[in-house]
Amino acid sequence: MSSKVKRTYASRSDQFKTDTPTSLSSPFSSASSGKRKWPFDELHSQVASAKRVKGSNSKPKSKQKTLKQLHFCIDQSTVRTCTACKLTYTKGAEDDEALHRAHCARVQRGMEWGKEEERDKASAGVKEIPNRVKLKDGKKGRVICVDATVGGKIGSKLSTLLETINVALSASALSPEALRASKAYLFLLPAITPNKEKIVGCILAQRIENAMMIASPSSYGSENDATPSSRPLVTVDDSSGLFCYPELLPTALGISRIFVTSAQRRKGIASCLLSAAARTFVHGCVLDPKDGQIAFSQTTGDGLALMRNWGQGGVRIYDEDHC
Ligand SMILES: CC(C)(COP(=O)(O)OP(=O)(O)OC[C@H]1O[C@@H](n2cnc3c(N)ncnc32)[C@H](O)[C@@H]1OP(=O)(O)O)[C@@H](O)C(=O)NCCC(=O)NCCS
Ligand SMILES: [Zn+2]
Repeated sequence: MSSKVKRTYASRSDQFKTDTPTSLSSPFSSASSGKRKWPFDELHSQVASAKRVKGSNSKPKSKQKTLKQLHFCIDQSTVRTCTACKLTYTKGAEDDEALHRAHCARVQRGMEWGKEEERDKASAGVKEIPNRVKLKDGKKGRVICVDATVGGKIGSKLSTLLETINVALSASALSPEALRASKAYLFLLPAITPNKEKIVGCILAQRIENAMMIASPSSYGSENDATPSSRPLVTVDDSSGLFCYPELLPTALGISRIFVTSAQRRKGIASCLLSAAARTFVHGCVLDPKDGQIAFSQTTGDGLALMRNWGQGGVRIYDEDHC
């Protein structure tokens, strides 16, 4: 599983290097600069060393400079967590607010796929997955596929999309090695603006070696248990009761990221992307999730529900850092 990080844009630590109370409470600076010394800490150490000097000083008390107790008021009300995208940002800090607005729009409505992307499509090796797709609400979209390490304009768009997905899932960035073994499948829906589309769904599919079979916790340990191993189960997610048999079984395809914009969920987009990857990832060979040929690495509540529905219980679990 990938290690968890905070849902913030952590690369912007430098902008908060003022001594204002806002900078002290900024979740962005705290996420990015774990080892940085807070002005707050510095004040404490100054007071502490002043106290040490006081203790060892032989000068008469009357000449001692009186130390005043300072109180910092950290206004927690400036820290907000958006209910729509779950991002934590500092209200009133312009850069934070702008980053949040952009992230929130991408999470809810998706990024644009326009003329420039269409123009660069051939050189970037973008493949159209045949069949226009009709969603549950009647709208028609299409699926395209591209190598995850693609460069140019499409590459930078994909990087922003993956960064958005990582923040939304509280996941770390994938290693360059994992990206080299991955393809991105994107679901495009016509936008309101003519000749433009929105990327409303994305999955990252990667070639893997092996994965673990999901165990049924209700049957584990009972007489009916068909456990293929006598070794203890691997706990994937305690809260949702997701356990795996520890054996690593040969598995062809791993899904490391899956995301659908919040405005377009429960219309069949994720299932459609997964089926497209199962059909086309390995040239000339259709993979079947029911036969355990596909595994997931991330397991959110929504993702589990999707995995169980789409894979009919056959989807496996893999570790994206060691596969
Ligand atoms: C998980 C996610 C990708 C599902 O995308 P989606 O396009 O809405 O999924 P689909 O419409 O293809 O769902 C197919 C079926 O899966 C199940 N399912 C999917 N999302 C579910 C949810 N939130 N709650 C319950 N069941 C769900 C349902 O059985 C659904 O069929 P139904 O709508 O007819 O009941 C989307 O909710 C999402 O992006 N969530 C945030 C990111 C995330 O958690 N990613 C998963 C990482 S493992
Ligand atoms: Zn938001």
